[in-house]
Amino acid sequence: MTIQQNYSLLPHNTFGIEATARYFITYDSVADLQDTIQLIHSEYPSMPILHIGGGSNLLFLSDYDGIILHSGIKGIDVTIQGDHAYVRVGAAVVWDELVEFCVNNGYYGLENLSLIPGEVGASAVQNIGAYGAEAKDVIESVETVCLQDGAPRIFTNGECEYAYRSSIFKHDLKGLYAITHVCFKLPLQFTPQLDYGGIRNALCNDGITPEKVQAKELRNTIINIRNTKLPDPRIQGNAGSFFMNPVVHRNVFEKILKDYPNMPFYEIDKEQVKIPAGWLIEQCGWKGKSLGNAAVHDQQALVLVNKGGAKGKDILRLCETVRSDVKQQFDIDIHPEVNFIGGEA
Ligand code: EPU
Repeated sequence: MTIQQNYSLLPHNTFGIEATARYFITYDSVADLQDTIQLIHSEYPSMPILHIGGGSNLLFLSDYDGIILHSGIKGIDVTIQGDHAYVRVGAAVVWDELVEFCVNNGYYGLENLSLIPGEVGASAVQNIGAYGAEAKDVIESVETVCLQDGAPRIFTNGECEYAYRSSIFKHDLKGLYAITHVCFKLPLQFTPQLDYGGIRNALCNDGITPEKVQAKELRNTIINIRNTKLPDPRIQGNAGSFFMNPVVHRNVFEKILKDYPNMPFYEIDKEQVKIPAGWLIEQCGWKGKSLGNAAVHDQQALVLVNKGGAKGKDILRLCETVRSDVKQQFDIDIHPEVNFIGGEA
């Protein structure tokens, strides 16, 4: 393990917020994590602990007066059984490197999740999703270590209680387990998922017949779509979608539809409809607008960006202003997807 003190978190949050951690500890194996937990209990028994991944879904509102843990567990192990590959991946593997590896080797199902920032461990906490696919569809099990006593525990997919951008690790068991490995079950036969609006058109624009698309071509098209809509965090700090898309009762949806007949939506079931938060925010006039050093992205209003030098609280102020405008105009509450760390929030 490596322990660093008063450590800058700038390289560990894609929002590009300047903040420090009192201690920052990186470990590189399950045994090393267990030693780390023992050390924390004996040396810093009452200090708060936060486990982070690639920092692509975090907003630091202040310095972190505690211990930040970061996995250094790498490695991808593949076992072929029948018509599936079982791919066991270290939590610190960069998500898109996994997607690329799988597409190149003929293990399918991750193509639509190409280029999502972050690390594999966080994919299982956050249930990352894009273009009609979600991590939960391909996660077989999640290997963890309890941060209280160092005991290993494997969660089956069912035990993870997956839902839209959510899992048991974000709710009932928040902060209690460190994910060490994620096991994916991936078919060896490629079945493209092309139902999400825009993919077929994008393929055609790239000169590809959707019915004949190859996995690598689909991955490239998804990468192109993301690159045109979403800002590159290396150039402009951001954490991808800042808000979750709200799910509303059909009555609420139909009432709004009368005034906005072109409103996009996704049917969930007979009662519930999901409305894109980006569309709601755009209707409120916020797309491309700034508040101090924080701004709403000009290509996708769901994304808040750091224009340079923003503090976590500047982003929070924009978040609250946007939320209150959406509430006022549509009477809908939108909730951040990003995790706030520190401050009074
Ligand atoms: N829209 C607008 N204005 C905007 C943004 C979107 O009118 O500023 C409209 C679009 O025209 C479209 C609809 O809203 O009709 C949906 O937009 P988009 O396809 O961009 O998807 P989204 O629902 O806004 C979600 C995910 C993204 C994911 C995309 C594609 C959430 C919170 N976000 O966004 O995830 O890439 O679908 O699947 O569910 C992320 O989590 O960081 C992320 C980027």
